[in-house]
Amino acid sequence: MAGESSVKSVRGMNDLLPGQIETWQRVEAAVREVSCRYGYREIRTPIVERTDLFRRSIGEQTDIVEKEMYTFADNNGDSLTLRPEATASCVRAGNEHGLLHNQTQRLWYVGPMFRHERPQKGRYRQFHQFGIEALGWAGSDIEAEVIAVGERLWRCLGIRGLTLEINSLGSVAARAKFRDALKAYLSEHVDALDTDSQRRLERNPLRILDSKDQGTQEVLDSAPSLSDFLEKGERENFERLQRLLTTVNIAFSVNTRLVRGLDYYTGLVFEWTTDQLGAQSAICAGGRYDGLVEQLGGRPVPAAGFACGLERLIELVTLQGEETPIQSPGVFVAALGDLAELEAIRHAESLRDAGIDAQVNCGQGNLKKQLRRADNSGAQVAVIIDDESVDTSTVKLKPLRGQGEQSTVPTIELLAAVRSITDLSD
Ligand code: HAM
Repeated sequence: MAGESSVKSVRGMNDLLPGQIETWQRVEAAVREVSCRYGYREIRTPIVERTDLFRRSIGEQTDIVEKEMYTFADNNGDSLTLRPEATASCVRAGNEHGLLHNQTQRLWYVGPMFRHERPQKGRYRQFHQFGIEALGWAGSDIEAEVIAVGERLWRCLGIRGLTLEINSLGSVAARAKFRDALKAYLSEHVDALDTDSQRRLERNPLRILDSKDQGTQEVLDSAPSLSDFLEKGERENFERLQRLLTTVNIAFSVNTRLVRGLDYYTGLVFEWTTDQLGAQSAICAGGRYDGLVEQLGGRPVPAAGFACGLERLIELVTLQGEETPIQSPGVFVAALGDLAELEAIRHAESLRDAGIDAQVNCGQGNLKKQLRRADNSGAQVAVIIDDESVDTSTVKLKPLRGQGEQSTVPTIELLAAVRSITDLSD
């Protein structure tokens, strides 16, 4: 008789299994360490927020808000959304808890984000971001710092070959002037644009700069350039940022067509990309968003940050970096017989007290079977306890990774003997 059909995970939402998780933990440890090195402090905000938060920050006419949010009404009829990103949440939390009142904040976070996109390699519906948000600073010095945090993370993880592109979107006023000029120019060439760009022309012409279509690219070659619309102060700030990056040996190129899919950016925008992951090449992206705090009900506070896609970063670490050792116990404790099992659990607890990872054989079995389990566990050494060991207060130690022959040691010397074997394999 056929069984019940099995329940599967939601499309585009992945399990992270033992064996994969070791690399995640290594990357998360690096994220923590690098953030700390620059004085950033962790913040954890809820995964569910009011829908309004994202409408008012990311923008009504963005792909994220128009098409990609997981939005639902809760039992009270409130419209809630699984967060598609965390910048808005950090700003909300900053406003709500008075963290931005006459104070500056360097914040970092890691966690799952949700976007209902078409899943493919490197693009998921639940994915994870590491992000930093520096709230309270105007100017290029903090912008250089934000970029340097990312660059140090790549170095820390042994990742090579990322490309940094930067651009300045200018103030809202400068961008509005540019938007009008771009729209006027593109309207004259509307027939040569791809259909997506034609659709964007009315409502979001800046996003056309992103188009990968050959025909559209050719039209854009002679389009007005955003850099010509920057005000003096903005241009100087952008030039100063470039000097700062050069000073700390961070290579970059200026891409005047770089725009972002979220509406809150003002001034600097940047993106780190790779050519090693196919279509989903953006590893990390961010910029300045000086209007957002006020837009969400606070006072005007300048801010800048980035978010990095951990699935993509981890794919790169796996391709390029050294292998992360799989988590395995130091010791496997095998027990043959009733009394031996009591001894086994006691010894395992004292080994753990001493800081050694120990796994106890569960489910009995003969010696051969238990040693096979010991081997499969990845342990360095098996501690074997049988009735004879109980009588003589000894245990047998069997090194499992070629660190010598089996020996018998008094139980009081167990810890030292285990250490001398496991040290051999460090
Ligand atoms: P974003 O460009 O939407 O920016 O996302 C940042 C990064 O998240 C992307 O570069 C990519 O690596 C990763 N990512 C985005 N969507 C997916 C997906 N569906 N699957 C896998 N990875 C994905 C933001 O989210 C802004 N909050 C960044 C920011 C912070 N700006 C200022 N502060």
